[in-house]
Amino acid sequence: IKRMGILTSGGDAPGMNAAIRAAVLTAAAHNIDVIGFRHGFNGLLEDDQQTLLPQHVQHIIQHGGTVLKSARCKALHTDAGARQAAEALHRLQLDALLIIGGDGSFRGALAIAQHYRGQIIGVPGTIDNDVDGTDFTIGFATAIDTALDAIDKIRDTADAFERIFLVELMGRHSGYIALSAGIAAGAEQIICPEFGTLQANELKALIKPIQHAQLLRGKSSYIIVVAENSYPGGTTALAEALSTALGIECRACILGHIQRGGSPVGADRILATKLAAYAVEQLVNGAHLMMAGEVNQQAALYPLAQTGERKKQIDPYLVRWQQQIASD
Ligand code: F6P
Repeated sequence: IKRMGILTSGGDAPGMNAAIRAAVLTAAAHNIDVIGFRHGFNGLLEDDQQTLLPQHVQHIIQHGGTVLKSARCKALHTDAGARQAAEALHRLQLDALLIIGGDGSFRGALAIAQHYRGQIIGVPGTIDNDVDGTDFTIGFATAIDTALDAIDKIRDTADAFERIFLVELMGRHSGYIALSAGIAAGAEQIICPEFGTLQANELKALIKPIQHAQLLRGKSSYIIVVAENSYPGGTTALAEALSTALGIECRACILGHIQRGGSPVGADRILATKLAAYAVEQLVNGAHLMMAGEVNQQAALYPLAQTGERKKQIDPYLVRWQQQIASD
């Protein structure tokens, strides 16, 4: 291949810049010209692009966000949008397109592939870690550390007031961040969508361990980490319901987008570098409609169409252990 496009799409994740850098440097080593599209797939539709040379990606490895900007692109949900995106790739004479994003972005890529004659490859970049075909996604490790730092701080104030706190973490419909950050923070309980959506009439299971802990250990801080989308009315409503049921004030803290920012930790920079470099090399080898992931420390290709099947599971060992200590 002689020319390739690259873009970042969907929720940004720390390490996306490291992936852009590695892709550009690897492409240069193979004499491939790189065009970077800005604002995700919108850059294709709006001809918002720039040539990316090695000097453009100097000293970006340590920065959060993405120098190419990111967006979710509704236009790609229509066939006309996908066709227009493919036409832009043909017009710019691009032999391949590399997409850094989550499974939603990969669905957009598959729609474009219906009309595009070139190769398409994905690199998993999302804090949620909810992509099949890779043990970890770029940004997940940093998001855990960011959430952990926040929960540790909440523990200080919770201890001082001997309060119950519910801390809501991101993850869309998966509990990877909640389970990992909750375990690392020593949370008393963790609630994830994988355990089933919690209904208002099922609070008993939550309350019993809290009362038990209070009887056993006396008044003490108590932290419940809640993955977003675990309770129909949201975590603030859950805190209110718990306050009423327990007769004790419970506080909710929604951590939000702070989890998407910050300088990527070393593990994310290394993963991003490895997967983006591997993706470019595999394009040179003819890969198409694949994602470059890492399984058991080995870079490996996985069909792009299967990345959103939700086969990967949150660690069953840690789930079992957490549930056991919560009820003891
Ligand atoms: O996919 C990343 C993510 O941060 C999810 O954890 C979250 O549900 C969603 O994006 C938030 O999206 P937005 O930034 O559009 O509010």
